[in-house]
Amino acid sequence: MEIGIKVGSVLNERADLGVLCVFEGQPLPAEVANLVEAEDFRGSANEKVLLYPRGAVSPRRLLLIGIGSIGKANVEQFRQVGALAVQEARKLKVPEFTIGVDGQPSISLFEAAVAFAEGMEMGAYRFWRYRTNLNTAQTFEVTKATIFAQAENAAAINQGAVIGRVIGRGVTYARDLVNSPGYSLTPEKLGDEAVALGGRTGLKVKVFDKAQLTEQGFGGILAVGKGSLNEPRFMIMEHGQASADKPTICFVGKGLTFDSGGLSLKPAEAMETMKSDMAGAAAVFGVMQVVAELNLPLHVVGLISSAENMPSGDAYRPGDIVTTLSGKTVEVLNTDAEGRIILSDALFYAQRYNPKAIVEVSTLTGAIIIALGMRTTGMMGTDQTLLDQLSKAGEVSGERVWALPMWDEYHQMVKSEVADLKNMAGRPAGSITAATFLAAFVGDYPFAHLDIAGTAWTTSPAKPYESARGTGVGVRLLVEYLRGLLAG
Ligand code: BES
Ligand code: ZN
Ligand code: ZN
Repeated sequence: MEIGIKVGSVLNERADLGVLCVFEGQPLPAEVANLVEAEDFRGSANEKVLLYPRGAVSPRRLLLIGIGSIGKANVEQFRQVGALAVQEARKLKVPEFTIGVDGQPSISLFEAAVAFAEGMEMGAYRFWRYRTNLNTAQTFEVTKATIFAQAENAAAINQGAVIGRVIGRGVTYARDLVNSPGYSLTPEKLGDEAVALGGRTGLKVKVFDKAQLTEQGFGGILAVGKGSLNEPRFMIMEHGQASADKPTICFVGKGLTFDSGGLSLKPAEAMETMKSDMAGAAAVFGVMQVVAELNLPLHVVGLISSAENMPSGDAYRPGDIVTTLSGKTVEVLNTDAEGRIILSDALFYAQRYNPKAIVEVSTLTGAIIIALGMRTTGMMGTDQTLLDQLSKAGEVSGERVWALPMWDEYHQMVKSEVADLKNMAGRPAGSITAATFLAAFVGDYPFAHLDIAGTAWTTSPAKPYESARGTGVGVRLLVEYLRGLLAG
């Protein structure tokens, strides 16, 4: 979807649909006030009314959307309004619409425009690649929104909209990857996707196939991938170069293109959504696309461990002891706790970049759903500065995270008698013990683990910019984290 900027007012420009966003408690422009009964529309958050102005103002249709009171209208509200506008345009089958805000928000216009554009891109998202029975109303696409602004604000709004659009597309890219079925997005195909992303954006990409993994000793990835005919991969996507003023940030993603549980097989219902077990990888893909397109002045490295976890005559077994890339050994107690095993190789690999921070994203544990539900990402780590930065990024991006503790007692729980570590420590504190397992592979580097098992997939989208199934969670959060680093 294209987003343009024009100087002027929505009310004075011809359009099939003009959208005017208004604050609650502010008087409407005089020519609009005559068109609507004051009691029928107050401008409360996400309130809508569609008017047919019959020449009173220039657009053929005028949609009023409420943004709530000026004091309360934050970036999240602008994200939602952006999405609502696109969705109404789609319902009306208007391919191009104009949009403006009446009045001055209390937040920066630049940040409001970022959120607005993010909302439009995300709100326009559908995953209908596999539908052949769509009608014309369903296939209809909104192609362009033109934001109207005052001359002195146009540059800031334009800059914001460009950035927001890139971020929004990063999110929908991640959603597409998560929604792709396991048979069509195997580890090999995910590797191809990384190469394609590199070709499109200029990211430096390397993909290790099974032979290379074997040669280099990626024992964790190989063990988990062993039971599948679809061979595992490891991917490196790199933006920029490290230098004194460009610290290295490593993002690590779990890329289980399908998680059956392996020999510790999952029950059927638990498997239904397990094509989404690469949502951490998808978030890293989305972030890397954004980082490259915005050409952020940082050295950012995305690392993906990818495998398919299947039961077979050649699958790894409970009781096996796996030697990971780090040399550390892992006793496998449950083959369904495979994420931490493949991630251990990627986390160890991350150390070679001497990073300022390692942030890892994964659909790691069902236990995080019990702890926090489906709307909050679990965060665990040992570096308080990094955790604070991520918490703040969560608030700003709307992808909120909540920290669980990682005290020493939990580290004891993943020690094994026959190996260095065991991959399961029972039900209590299941998300935390998984995180402490991961922390054993990052050395002393600042590390944060984001457990998105609850937030990566939704059956009940609650906000206008959300869509059912893959959420693309992590992209906005991590991009905001990077923007926060750059803002100082
Ligand atoms: N991929 C799952 C975690 C998951 C569960 C993601 C639900 C999304 C929704 C992970 O590999 C897994 O199965 N973890 C086990 C660990 C247990 C065996 C220690 C779990 O959470 O039950
Ligand atoms: Zn599993
Ligand atoms: Zn898994």
